[in-house]
Amino acid sequence: MRQCKTMSKATRKKIIAGNWKMNMTPSQARDLINMLKPACDTAESDVVFCVPYVDIPVALDMLKGSKISVGAQNVHCRDNGAYTGEISAPMLKELGVKYVIIGHSERRQFFAEADALVNMKIKKAMEHGLIPIVCVGETLEQRKQGITIDFVRTQTKIALMGIAPDDAKQIVIAYEPIWAIGTGENAKPEQAEEVCRAIRQVIGEMYDTNVAANMRIQYGGSVTAATAAELFNQPNIDGGLVGGASLKADFAEIVNYS
Ligand code: 13P
Repeated sequence: MRQCKTMSKATRKKIIAGNWKMNMTPSQARDLINMLKPACDTAESDVVFCVPYVDIPVALDMLKGSKISVGAQNVHCRDNGAYTGEISAPMLKELGVKYVIIGHSERRQFFAEADALVNMKIKKAMEHGLIPIVCVGETLEQRKQGITIDFVRTQTKIALMGIAPDDAKQIVIAYEPIWAIGTGENAKPEQAEEVCRAIRQVIGEMYDTNVAANMRIQYGGSVTAATAAELFNQPNIDGGLVGGASLKADFAEIVNYS
């Protein structure tokens, strides 16, 4: 009988990304990168700074030759056109951006981004060689109703609809429970692990065990230097997407959590 090829967890490299959100002018970005760069550049994990659009040139210039990658926080679902105020994947790619956050709960909540649009954006980003960091996560009400797993499974399925296995493998999923974002209350490691495991399971159902074993799944929501290690050491958690703490010296500790 042919042996089923599976991949061990150990082959997934951790990825820790800072989501600066709408913080840091270009000059402030320069100061923050100066502070964080030495410790982030020697980290064992992949490290990404997801900065506001206007900080991208500064970040790329300062991080040239380093192991730290630059990510954007959003992208439009079309290549170009009459979409005032938007930024396209070819624009980001030409600058040298590697990652892009797609479907963050703040975009879903404040900019009415629905699952179908998230799916379109992921496809467009990948078409242009950007790696999506796709956010999913439940509200407090959904958790209280006991529908967290169902909800996150559905979000994941729609996000990845029509995406080929080889593309899916490269995508990073960020499980970010909305009740944990910016609240100072992170999910308990076992809560985060339960949902990340369920996400990996649904990937396995949609694709196969190989894609599921390769895909990197982050946890995000009030990660701090004090909580990073116990979260990131869970078997199905492959790093984190960090908001508030990515704007401080703490981020250097978070990326060197082990
Ligand atoms: P906080 O780390 O500030 O809770 O933000 C998490 C987040 O939304 C990262 O994308």
